[in-house]
Amino acid sequence: MRISFAAPAQPKSGAIAGLVTEGGKLAPSLADLDGQLGGALTRAIKSSRFTGKKGEALEVLAPAGLSASRVVLLGLGKPAEAGPLDFERVGGDLLVRLNAAGEKEAALTVDVLPDLRLEPSEVAARVAYGAQLRSYRFDKYRTTEKPERKPSLKKLTVMAAAHAGAKKVYARLEKIAEGVFATRDLCSEPANVLYPESFAKQAKKSLEKVGVEVEILGEKEMEKLGMGSLLGVGQGSVRDSQLLILRWMGAGKTGKAKTKSSSRAKKAAEGVPLAIVGKGVCFDTGGISIKPAGGMEDMKWDMGGAGVVVGLFHALAARKAKLDLVGACALVENMPDGNAQRPGDVVHSMSGQTIEVINTDAEGRLILADALWYVQETYKPKAIVDLATLTGAIMVALGRSHAGLFSNDDELSERILAAGKTVGEPCWRMPMGEDFNRMIDSDIADMKNVGGRWGGSITAAQFLERFIQDGTAWAHLDIAGVTWSDKDRPTAPKGATGFGVRLLDELVTKHYEK
Ligand code: BES
Ligand code: MN
Ligand code: ZN
Repeated sequence: MRISFAAPAQPKSGAIAGLVTEGGKLAPSLADLDGQLGGALTRAIKSSRFTGKKGEALEVLAPAGLSASRVVLLGLGKPAEAGPLDFERVGGDLLVRLNAAGEKEAALTVDVLPDLRLEPSEVAARVAYGAQLRSYRFDKYRTTEKPERKPSLKKLTVMAAAHAGAKKVYARLEKIAEGVFATRDLCSEPANVLYPESFAKQAKKSLEKVGVEVEILGEKEMEKLGMGSLLGVGQGSVRDSQLLILRWMGAGKTGKAKTKSSSRAKKAAEGVPLAIVGKGVCFDTGGISIKPAGGMEDMKWDMGGAGVVVGLFHALAARKAKLDLVGACALVENMPDGNAQRPGDVVHSMSGQTIEVINTDAEGRLILADALWYVQETYKPKAIVDLATLTGAIMVALGRSHAGLFSNDDELSERILAAGKTVGEPCWRMPMGEDFNRMIDSDIADMKNVGGRWGGSITAAQFLERFIQDGTAWAHLDIAGVTWSDKDRPTAPKGATGFGVRLLDELVTKHYEK
C-alpha cells in the first residue's frame, strides 16, 4: 500500500473518507459533500446507530450523483480529547474497512476541527501512521491464497491543508513503522528458518544497510569470554549460539568517516549512555524440563526481545537518531538432546557467579545473565534496558496488554512508564526486594535459576539484577504477554505486535537524543 499526502480535493473514484465528531457532527469536508448529495450523509446517520463516537464508522455506498464508490464516516468522539493514538486508530480502522470492502484506493480528508489539541500536520500524519502499522501482513508462506482474500487497498491519500507538514512528520513515523515491521517479521518467522545464526545473519544484512555496526560472537568466542551460562542453554541444540552486538554511534555524526575500531575503543572507555539487551531464544522447547505439547509452537516467538532490539536499531538508524546506543541479542535454541544441560547442573557465568540450573525451561535469565555482563564490561553503559519474553507468570499477573516493568531506578522507570503510555505500549511496574532475592539462593551454588511457585516474574527479575553492576540504572521489561496478540489491535493485526520498538524510540527521543 502506498500512502501519500495531498491538498484537499474531491476524488473521482475509490472511497472518500472523513471525520465525524461526537453528536454526529460532520467535519467541514463531509458537510460540503453532504450538501452536494442532498443530505444523504445526514440521512444515513439518522437511520443508523452511528453517533460519531470514538471507534464507530458508517459506510454510505455508491451515493447517487457521486462517481466515488463509497463514503466512509469515521467517528472521532470529542476532538478536544483526541490524542495521537486516537488518530492512529482512525487510520487503522479505515484500512481494515477498505480492505474488507475490496476497495483499491481511498482518500481521507483530515479537516482542521475546532478544539483540536494537536497540530493539523500531526493529525494527518498519525492517521497515515495508524493505517500503515495496521497494514502489516506476514504472508510469505501463503502460496494458494485467492486474490480476493488478499488486501485490496493499493493507494491511500491523506488530504489536509497542512499536507506538506504532514509529509515531514510522517517521514519520521514511517521509519519507526519500518522498525516495527522488522520486529514483527522476525517474530513471525518459524524456527526452522530463523535460528541463532540465520537471525544474526539477517540482522547484520539489513542493519548494515542503514549504517549500524554489527558484530557477531560465536560459541568459540563466548567460550573464551567465559559465558558458561548462555552456552549451557544452547548446548542441547545442533544450532550454534550467537551473541549479536549492535552499535549505532549517531551522537557525533559529523560526516567525517571514523574507523570502526577507534570509535568503538573510545566509546568503550567513556561509557555509552544506554544499552538495550534482548532475549533471543529462537525456539524454547524447555530443554530437558520439556514443555507440554499444547501450544509449544508459540515458543517460536521466544526471541521477541531480540526482535525488538533489531527493530529499534533499524528505526533509529533509518531516521538517523542523534545518540550513541549499544544493543545486544542473546541468541540460542533451547532443545532437549543427549548433550543438553540437565536439571541440577551448575554453570559458571561470565560474571564469575555460579548458577544451579534447577529448571532448564528458565533459560531466558541464563542467557541474559551473560549478555548483560558482557555489555557492561565492554561498553560501561549508564543505563540498560532489557526486553524478554521471560515468564508465563507475567501473563497471569498482568494479562495481555501490559508489559511487566522491573527496575532498580525510579527515574528510568518513570520515563519508561510515560513513554509506554504515550505510544500505546503500556507497562506496569512490579515490586522487587530482598525477600524475593533470597528465594533464588542455592544450597550448592551462588544462586539457582528458579525461585519456586510464587512471584515467578519477580524472582526472574531478581536473578537478572544479580548481573547488574553497581551504579548502572537498569530496567527489565517482561514482554511475554504482549509480544504476540491473539486478536487484532487498533494498529496491529493479530500476531506479532512489535511491542517495545515504539516505546524505546519514544524513550530515546525524549531523554537520550541531542
Ligand atoms: N519463554 C518462556 C516464557 C513464556 C511463556 C513466554 C509463555 C511466552 C509465553 C520461559 O522461558 C519459560 O519457560 N519460563 C518458565 C519459567 C519457569 C520454569 C520458572 C515459565 O514461565 O513457566
Ligand atoms: Mn523456557
Ligand atoms: Zn523462554
